[in-house]
Parts: sequence; structure tokens; C-alpha cells
Amino acid sequence: MAHDAQGNRATFASDAAAHAFDHMVEGFLKYRLDTPLRLKATLQLDPEAPLPHLMKAGFAMLAYKAAHVPAAKAALDHARGLGGNGREQMHLAALDAWAEGGQDRAISIWERIIAEHPRDILAFRFHHFAAFWMGKAPAMLSAVEGIMPHWEGDIPGYGSVLACRAFANEEAGNLIIAEHAGREAIRRDPADLWAAHAVAHVLEMQGRRAEGIAWITGLSPHFEGGNNLMHHIFWHQAMFHIERGEHAEVLRLYDTGFRNLESPVTQMQPDLYIDCQNAASMLFRLERQGVDVGTRWEELAEKAEARIGDCLSAFTLPHWMMALCATGRFAAAERMLQSMRDDAAANSGENPSILRDAALPCCEALLLRARGEPAAAVARMRPAIGEMHRLGGSHAQQDVLEQLFLDCAMAAGLTSDAEMLLERVTGRWPTPPERRIGYAAAASALRRAG
Ligand SMILES: [Fe+2]
Repeated sequence: MAHDAQGNRATFASDAAAHAFDHMVEGFLKYRLDTPLRLKATLQLDPEAPLPHLMKAGFAMLAYKAAHVPAAKAALDHARGLGGNGREQMHLAALDAWAEGGQDRAISIWERIIAEHPRDILAFRFHHFAAFWMGKAPAMLSAVEGIMPHWEGDIPGYGSVLACRAFANEEAGNLIIAEHAGREAIRRDPADLWAAHAVAHVLEMQGRRAEGIAWITGLSPHFEGGNNLMHHIFWHQAMFHIERGEHAEVLRLYDTGFRNLESPVTQMQPDLYIDCQNAASMLFRLERQGVDVGTRWEELAEKAEARIGDCLSAFTLPHWMMALCATGRFAAAERMLQSMRDDAAANSGENPSILRDAALPCCEALLLRARGEPAAAVARMRPAIGEMHRLGGSHAQQDVLEQLFLDCAMAAGLTSDAEMLLERVTGRWPTPPERRIGYAAAASALRRAG
């Protein structure tokens, strides 16, 4: 029995294997591209240790891709035969629940683990991730604030806890705490991508665009060796530029920073959910501003068609639908809706109700909008407005769905719906709609009419 870098008892045959595992965990926490290789090295050193097999399953699930779930289940079955201590068995139970579609159950098991082992950085980080994609910002916040008293600055992983503290507080609206924690994490390690990202979110919420661009460009020399989160950070940079009307720079970042189809990082997972969300979300926003985005939708629509029937990443579904609609693939869009309805009719796990209450209304609204029926789109989406957070994603990401509703309401002349939406975003964002590019035109038109 060995210990991990945070002092938790862990089943490894040697200290060398435990250290290799710690090195892999550090890669996971810091979004390093070579993390799978670090895991492979750990598995070679100690093929009988349960935790590396559990991580193999966790990484398969983190792809949010139905085709990867069988690999996750196989790794879990293997881990099941290896035993392990009570904490490791709880990790197995959490990942088992996740692989079976029980994301809330997984989240509650990780919460039990960190209650008993507040320095279990893996349980904490999986919880942070899964709670985020389940739209559970309060759970993210209570988890990180709950473990903070048990951490000190010299414990490996402390910077990552600070980064999570920054992001959880940002999503909760506690922007001062968030920025302070994020900047402290960056002071400790300027290559901490999650911390860089969290501070970018604070700057986005507060409309500090020049600072946001400077923040990301200043840190970008440290991004080398990072994984796809780099793309998402460049998407955030593009979000600052679009607010300033700098469309050429947005498209440059699109082609070179967050949707470069030639880059090795993109080619490793060309249909990765977060990359495709970034791309579709930005194209949708640009087109709302009247920007010609050329043929950029086409490759996204190809990937969307290939993923019909895979509803594992609920927040990605409206983005797939945007690509299908933008390219006029209405038959494929109908097939995608039907696959979502089929999944929504299932009676296991949380995903069916999320599909029914949040994803389907948004996706159906997108198709109605594309078919020139904005009033019907508003009627379909209106009951789901309060449910959209269940799709997961940040305020900045969810914003594209708010813009979708506003766009349809304005096109249909449904003034009270447009006003409701503007009130909603005014309550959630410290920057007023008049200062935000996706809302300014509607806000001033409604003011004139009022
Ligand atoms: Fe983000």
C-alpha cells in the first residue's frame, strides 16, 4: 500500500508506480496533452493497480461520446477484479454510475468521497467536471469551499483547487473571490489552463474586453503542451473581439486558434464536444452580426450527422443542430430530433429528462427558426427557458441559447418575450445588454418602442 501525492492511501505495488500515477494526475489537472501517455506508462509499471484502470474509464467518459462508453465499462470491469481499498471502491462505484447514465448518483458518490477524504483531488475534480456539465453550479461551489480548509499551499494540486475555486465562484456570481483565486493560481503556475480560463470568464462577465485579450495573449506562451482547453481559451479571446466588432480577428482565431482542422490537437479528436461547441457557437454569433462565415459550417455539419443518435453531451446537441440548420440539412435535423425523442422516452438516468425539458425545445426551436417560423420557435422554447441550465455549460456558453430566443422573439415581433429575455440576462450579467453585442440592437429597439 502506497500513498498518492496528496497523502491518500492507494493500492500500488511500488512507490515508482505511485509516483507515475501522481505525474499522470498532475497532467489531468493541468490539461496536458500527454496525459494519456502518462496513464499508459503507469499501467505498464503496475498493471494490477486499480486506480489507473479507473482513470482509463474516467477519461473515456470525459469524452462525452457514446462510442467511448463501452471502453469505459470494460476498464471498470477490469478494475472490479483488482480489488482496492474503500476509497478506490467508491471511485469504482461513481464511475460505474456515470457509465450507466446515473450522473447525479456519480456526483453524490464523489461528494461522499471528498467528505471523507477532502484531499482526494480526483474525486473533487471529477465532481467539478460532472457537476458543471449537469448545470449544478451550487454543487461545484459547495464542493470547493468544503475542501479548502483541508488544503495548504504546499500540497500538490493546490493550484488546481484554486483554479476550481475561481471557476465555481465565477459561475456563482462571486466575481471578486473568483478573480482573486484565479490570479493566485496563475501566480503559482502560469500554465494552469483552468485558472487562465476562470479569470477570462470573470473578465467576460464584467465586460473587461481589452483586459481579457491582454490576459490571454499574455499567458498564451505558456499554453504549449496543453490539450483542447487551449482551444476553448482562444474561443474566449474571440468572444472579447466579437464584442469589439473585430470580426476579422474572430475569424483568424477561429481558423488558427480554436478550429484549426490541421492542428494535431484537433486531429486527435476532430468531433470533440467542446471544440465543436466553440466553433458552432461562434459561427452562430457571427452570423447574427451579419458576418459571412464562408463554408465553415460544412465540416461541423458532417460531424453532426455522424453523431446523430449520440445524446450523451446534452449541451452539444443544440450546437450540432445549429450546424445542420445552417447547411440546410433539414432531413438530418429531423433524424436528430427523432433520436433525441427516442432517448428522452427512456426511463433511466438523468439524461432523458434533460433531453425532454431542455435540449429538445432548443433544438426544435433552431429548426423552426431555420424554416422561417420564429413565433413557433419562441412558443416551443419559452417553457424551457428556466430549464436550460440543466444542459450544462457556463454563463458565457449558455448565452448563445439566450441569443437564439431573443433573435426569434424579435423576428416574430413578440415584444414581451424579448423583454423577458433581456430582463433575464440583465439579472445574470453585470454588464448591461446595451453593452453586449448580442443584445444591444434588441435593447435599443425595445427602448425606442417603449
Ligand atoms: Fe469557458
